[in-house]
Order: sequence, then C-alpha cells, then structure tokens
Amino acid sequence: MQINFNNVSADYQVGPIRSPLILQAVDLSIQSKSFTAVVGHTGAGKSSLLKVINGLLLPKQGEVYVGTTTISAASSKKELKEVRQRVGMVFQFPEAQLFAETVEKDICFGPLNFGIPLNEAKKIARQVIQQVGLEEEILHKSPFSLSGGQKRRVAIAGILAMKPNILVLDEPGAGLDPNGKREIMHLIKSWHMERGLTTILVTHDMEDVAEYAEQVVIMDKGQVVAHDVPNKIFANLALLEKYHLSLPDARKLQIRIEKETGVRLPKICLTVDDLANGLMMAGLV
Ligand SMILES: Nc1ncnc2c1ncn2[C@@H]1O[C@H](COP(=O)(O)OP(=O)(O)OP(=O)(O)O)[C@@H](O)[C@H]1O
Ligand SMILES: [Mg+2]
Repeated sequence: MQINFNNVSADYQVGPIRSPLILQAVDLSIQSKSFTAVVGHTGAGKSSLLKVINGLLLPKQGEVYVGTTTISAASSKKELKEVRQRVGMVFQFPEAQLFAETVEKDICFGPLNFGIPLNEAKKIARQVIQQVGLEEEILHKSPFSLSGGQKRRVAIAGILAMKPNILVLDEPGAGLDPNGKREIMHLIKSWHMERGLTTILVTHDMEDVAEYAEQVVIMDKGQVVAHDVPNKIFANLALLEKYHLSLPDARKLQIRIEKETGVRLPKICLTVDDLANGLMMAGLV
C-alpha cells in the first residue's frame, strides 16, 4: 500500500500551547511493498513521522495519503479507524502497552475491536504467536510473567493479528540482546516478504539499514533531507557527516582499505559479503 506525504507540517499540543513545528513541509513518497529505513539524529522527528502515518498525530497542514485514505487536519474518526486498521504500528518498547490478564486476550483485543468474532480472533492469536516464534501455551500466561524478549514478541504479535498492509516499527530491537534483536529483525523481514507488506523501520543501527532497507530516508529538524537507495546514501560521506550518521562496519572497513592500498573497490560495500566480493573483484585477496 502506497504512502504519500504532501507538504505535511505538524506540531504537538503542550499544555495550553502548541509546540513549534515538529514536521516541516514533508513531501515523501513510499512505494507499496518497499522496505524503508528512517534514520536521523535524536529529536529529528522520526517517531512523529510514523505517528502521522497512522493518524496518532494529525497534520496541521498538508495531507498524507495511505492507500485510498486521506489523513489531514479534517480527517473523520471513521477515516482514522480505517487507517489504524491498515497501519500496524510497533512503538519503541511496545511491551509497555501490554495490559490484559492473558497473552491471548491481549492479542485478541485489536481484532475484536475491529469487529472480528471471538473464535476467529482466537484462531488468529494462535497463528501469530507461532509467527513470532513462541509456543501456543504462552497464550494462557499473564503477559507480565514473560521475559523482555517474549513480551516484545507478544506485543508485535498483537499488531500482526490486525493483518495490517503497512507495518511501521520504531526501533523494534531496542533494549534486546544481540540474538533477540537479530531474530526480531529476521522475522520482520520474512513477514515483509511473505505478506507483501509496506514496511517502515526507524532505527539508529546502520547495520540494519545496510542489511534490510531498500530505501533510506534521512530526517533532520522535522524535514526529510534525503531519500535514496542505501548504496547512494552510504556513498555520500559528506551527507552522512552533515547529519551525524555513521556507516555500516563493512563500509567503514572498505574506506580504510581503499585509503591504505590506494585501490578503489568496484562497488559500495555495505555487508561483509559485499566486502569479500569487492576485495576479490579488485584482486586484493
Ligand atoms: N508528545 C509530544 N509533545 C510535545 N513535543 C513532542 C512530543 N513528542 C515529541 N515531541 C518533540 O518533537 C520533536 C521530534 O520528536 P520525535 O520523537 O519525533 O524524534 P525522534 O527522531 O523520534 O527522536 P529519537 O531518535 O530520540 O526517538 C522533539 O523535539 C520532541 O521533543
Ligand atoms: Mg523516536
């Protein structure tokens, strides 16, 4: 499902006053079924950008088109409900939103809310709990009795249960151990492929960008300042430096090798495999 931002500005209500503009005249087009990473310094507006996509933050100016639904300052409750069903949003530390007395009830909450009958919702819960790599037995436990990684998976299962067309994820691996994080990222990639999702991932981890993203959006001070394929973004060192972004390890190593040998590798290397290949092509190994 395609997403288009047309001149979107947004701010927050802070007590009695409005904040300065947090999103400023954002124009952005995200292709259906693409995998996009959103990066940028802390406070750049990444989470706010995600919130606009599922109508949690309404534009003050401009509109966002999510498939055939328009989100604007004038959106109706019906339109927002429609968009929330299509856009599954996994917040940073989503486990903080678990609330029910059993995992099953927690996962069924979304589908029931959107009018799915109880039996069908329970069936979906059994499917999604497996898809996040957990045993069915866990459905009858209290979400609060689970480990951090299990809680994260349950929270994500609750989003998948809504069968979204678009999955937006805000640092889904934050705070997990490296294995847990890798597993969650693999799962996200496989749902993306199998379900034909449009996936948007906010991350500070350039290894994830290198490994999973087809498109990269850089945000700074509420604006989209770059939108391109990873190869182009990671070739542009001045751009990365300007926005205080780091490089994936393989690319860092590539630059060092090129400096020390004076040999230019024939392509931009973002992963270890790329680098091994590049070194062989250049005849350096
Ligand atoms: N609920 C809110 N009320 C008021 N201001 C907010 C609110 N949420 C975010 N902001 C402000 O909006 C700006 C952008 O915040 P946002 O959370 O979108 O940044 P971010 O790029 O996701 O940062 P991080 O990488 O730290 O998560 C910041 O200046 C922040 O202080
Ligand atoms: Mg954020």
